Amino acid sequence: MFFSAFLLSRALLASTVFAVPTSRLDGGIARRVGRQLATPFRPTETATSTATSSPSSTDPAVLSSNVWAGAGLESPANTYQSITGTLVVPHLQPATGGAIEGIYGGSAWVGLDGMTCQTSLMATGIQFIYLNQTILANSWTEVYPNPAVTMSMPVNAGDVVKLTLTATSSTTGTAVVQNLSSGQSSTVGLTSTAPLCLADAEWIVEDFEEGTFLMPFADFGSITFSDASATTQDGGTVGPCGSGSHLIDMVQSGLQFASASCAASSVTVDYLTSIPF
Ligand SMILES: *[C@@H]1O[C@H](CO)[C@@H](O)[C@H](O)[C@H]1NC(C)=O
Ligand SMILES: *[C@@H]1O[C@H](CO)[C@@H](O)[C@H](O)[C@H]1NC(C)=O
Repeated sequence: MFFSAFLLSRALLASTVFAVPTSRLDGGIARRVGRQLATPFRPTETATSTATSSPSSTDPAVLSSNVWAGAGLESPANTYQSITGTLVVPHLQPATGGAIEGIYGGSAWVGLDGMTCQTSLMATGIQFIYLNQTILANSWTEVYPNPAVTMSMPVNAGDVVKLTLTATSSTTGTAVVQNLSSGQSSTVGLTSTAPLCLADAEWIVEDFEEGTFLMPFADFGSITFSDASATTQDGGTVGPCGSGSHLIDMVQSGLQFASASCAASSVTVDYLTSIPF
């Protein structure tokens, strides 16, 4: 089929890019946040609590997105200051039904203002790629609308990685990616041309896009952001599952690709299925 052949040619292009060392990936297939899709990202609210499923009124509302799964906190402007979460870089499998020799990927990140703020967004996380049975991973940070920048911190499948993003003002911040097993870390200062809203904080697993090419979503099993919390400008610390929390499920072509759940200090995203080329 024409469409599949087109995607395949894009994938082989992507493979070529990924044959270079990760330090040179900045200009290549750097991940993009959902809101950089042609339609700006705002998850549509679906399946909010109904009387029949009788969840308590404090249960997080469930949203769906074509490229994001995870959890996010939404509050008035100037609420949040930082966000953190720790995850294990996943061992990947091909997309459900996908060839062993192929390319699949995704990313996992923490961010401020990815959901509702229309002016800016800061995020830091890891990108993971399965390419012909090899797993490639790197760490990155991004300030919207600039492309993601690869950080010097190397990450491998199985590493326990702590991600922390802090807004130091409405236009500046720091991103820290730390290998908790070794203590090694990388810190990058961030500057935004437009002010942050500091109105939302999110823990997200993403099916990222490069140009118009949506990466076939890798089977990552399950990713848990543990020790997940956000700090507020009044000095408080909040978990991902409390007041103002939304869960986000990933749905593409009518199929649920990933589902999210949260607890007091964790967010778990489970891979369900995806579509290879
Ligand atoms: C991945 O495998 C495919 C199919 O065997 C091959 O055509 C392609 O060159 C490989 N890509 C890389 C980067 O090894
Ligand atoms: C992270 O730390 C562990 C423990 O020292 C080490 O085995 C692993 O290789 C480190 N990861 C990277 C990418 O250096």
